[in-house]
Amino acid sequence: MADEALILTETDGHVGILRLNRPKALNAISPDLIQQVADQLDQWDRDEQIYAMVITGSDKAFAAGADIVDMAPRSTMEMHQRDQFAVWDRVAKVKKPIIAAVSGFALGGGCELMMMCDVVIASETAQFGQPEINLGIIPGAGGTQRFTRAVGKATAMDVILSGRFLSAEEALDYGLVSRVAPADSYLDEAIKLAHTMAKKGPLALQIGKEAVNKAFETTLGEGVQFERRLFYMLFSTEDQKEGMKAFMEKRKPDFKAR
Ligand code: CAA
Repeated sequence: MADEALILTETDGHVGILRLNRPKALNAISPDLIQQVADQLDQWDRDEQIYAMVITGSDKAFAAGADIVDMAPRSTMEMHQRDQFAVWDRVAKVKKPIIAAVSGFALGGGCELMMMCDVVIASETAQFGQPEINLGIIPGAGGTQRFTRAVGKATAMDVILSGRFLSAEEALDYGLVSRVAPADSYLDEAIKLAHTMAKKGPLALQIGKEAVNKAFETTLGEGVQFERRLFYMLFSTEDQKEGMKAFMEKRKPDFKAR
């Protein structure tokens, strides 16, 4: 029998939906799994029919981390040579919006993958953490940086140095996730949000994502200048003309991603 697929994908209108699918290992992220995730997201990023994406796992686990079994025997040189987290960076470079629909465990690399997404809809059952400290290591796929930017130094130190988990409510309070939804509807809510985004100007979605992300990379003054250039740039698109014309004509815009 063929191996079970590591990811399951479907498209729903202009939305791509990707499910991590290693249920027996709580979606532990092996090199093959993250490679497939990055390849699929890249493909949708290039696909003119896809405007927004959703990543989810199972109800029990979004992902319980990078694959410990795979990493356990490796030496420093092996880790350095194969630079296994380089492929993870591709997720953060996707231009179109990605919504993470998170239930159960989002730990270590699972939390890091989630933080590379743009919006997080959490089930009330979700638990978040960077428990690498229990293994004698630290987060390696951006956790110390993105977690700290999301929740601030005090909570980041508390969570990363103790290995403790945050509940969905705590994660919402700290700004790690965007919304908490009931356990039976978190995925529907994420897909609904993706469809809401997909009705907007597709170019503006991508440019808006780029502008917000710039806030984490630059000073306020430079960020505002960057935003302004992107804002003016959008006036060269048909979607801007259509969006403003539709407003004045009191009808819904018909965006064409041009
Ligand atoms: N890697 C590999 N396998 C994992 C895994 C991981 N990160 N997390 C869970 N699994 C496997 C378990 O080994 C177990 O497999 P078997 O049935 O073959 O024994 C299966 O998934 C189910 O797990 P548990 O029996 O442990 O389930 P539980 O409900 O008792 O506990 C848990 C759940 C608290 C999430 C526990 O599995 C756990 O602590 N997992 C590890 C969490 C972790 O340390 N994550 C960080 C990994 S390092 C990392 O991510 C580095 C980075 O920055 C990228």
